[in-house]
Amino acid sequence: MKFPDSINVLLLGSGGREHAFAWSIARSKRVAKLYIAPGNAGTASCGTNVDINPNNFGSVKQFVISNNINLVVVGPEEPLVKGIYNFFAEDGEISNIPVIGPSTEGARLEGSKDFAKAFMTRHNIPTAAYRSFTKKSLDEGLAFLETLKAPYVLKADGLAAGKGVLILDSIDEAKTELANMLNGKFGAASNTVVIEEYLSGIECSVFVATDGTSFKILPVAKDYKRIGVGDTGPNTGGMGAVSPVPFADEQFMEKVTKTIVEPTIAGLKADKIIYKGFIFIGLMNVDGTPKVVEYNVRMGDPETEVVLPRIESDIIGLFEGIAYGKLDKYDLQISPNTAVTVVCVSEGYPGSYEKGFEIKGLSMSCPTTDEGSIVFHAGTTSKAGKILTSGGRVLAVTSFGKSIADAVNKSFNTIQDIEYQGKYYRSDIGKDLMKR
Ligand code: AMP
Ligand code: GLY
Repeated sequence: MKFPDSINVLLLGSGGREHAFAWSIARSKRVAKLYIAPGNAGTASCGTNVDINPNNFGSVKQFVISNNINLVVVGPEEPLVKGIYNFFAEDGEISNIPVIGPSTEGARLEGSKDFAKAFMTRHNIPTAAYRSFTKKSLDEGLAFLETLKAPYVLKADGLAAGKGVLILDSIDEAKTELANMLNGKFGAASNTVVIEEYLSGIECSVFVATDGTSFKILPVAKDYKRIGVGDTGPNTGGMGAVSPVPFADEQFMEKVTKTIVEPTIAGLKADKIIYKGFIFIGLMNVDGTPKVVEYNVRMGDPETEVVLPRIESDIIGLFEGIAYGKLDKYDLQISPNTAVTVVCVSEGYPGSYEKGFEIKGLSMSCPTTDEGSIVFHAGTTSKAGKILTSGGRVLAVTSFGKSIADAVNKSFNTIQDIEYQGKYYRSDIGKDLMKR
């Protein structure tokens, strides 16, 4: 099986990750039409935005049929966890159209921490020791906390918009929060709470594309989660990213491949879980030993904004390999250069912030790499010919360089030419990884 010579693609999502996907797809000579649902002001320069909610599968289906779509690429986790893969696979009118993403069962690797931990335990994949508790077993949970050392890691089982993980220094606080979570602090998402061992080390994000049998490891990245310089302040969706990651060298990646990636793919197969998409493995380098912190069933944001620009081979070939079980034949070509992205956010983010400020200094065309930086849009919208801020994370400015310093300085320079009220970015992206 293969794609026709020229295909129509529907991409679901609206953030910086989706602009990076749209940019990458638009570069392929194999694409006739690219639609993005719902997209943002940046994706509109790479394809056509359509006003469809990715979680409304009925509308997605109608669009796919009326526009002769040959491929559906899913950016965010929500449609995946809600079962878009199975929705297509089980409907005779659209079952022949590949959806890049896991089945509903596969998406539980992200949708349920308890499911993911049990999967890792079953398949001997290194991760933090853990136990899960519900309201009924609250007393056992409190007793379990007594057996652990600080800091205490509590995780809501379900999706909690990235806020469901608490890391607490005091046992009293941990006990109070465990009770709060089991009593609905994160709604149904915290009906079950995973308590796990604290892992100390430095994190990185490993991205794997799989057709369910073979896999390709995409460029490794590190993201910067905290709002403040020096990794301080509250967690955000991500303030920047760097790829490659110097400590994720060949020896480290060999361990990741053997102890984590291969057993993950083999485990999915052994458990008869259909998985044709991306696996994002968040891992901790614990004194040279990689351990899984979490699985996500999609690409990361802002990591995608550095991972995809480093992929030089045609991304449609990657999707074709995933969709038709021939990923082993895909010749993945990766640029040796370093890519860095710096995220510009709205003042107040990740707390409350105002939207609707005009952004000046942006080019309106689909960006190319020879312009110095690629300005990916995250939270933007266009109105009467103007581009306005429409989210907390507004832009992700990606640049290439021979070194991290070189790339990040190019992004900082580009950012100086972009103006909007309340612009903020972290001035230390990549600094911890630079050779002194
Ligand atoms: P998660 O949603 O599982 O990625 O957790 C959010 C963040 O909490 C991770 O990116 C880590 O920085 C941190 N974290 C999660 N689990 C652990 C752990 N067991 N030990 C240390 N840090 C953790
Ligand atoms: N950058 C982390 C995430 O996408 O979840």
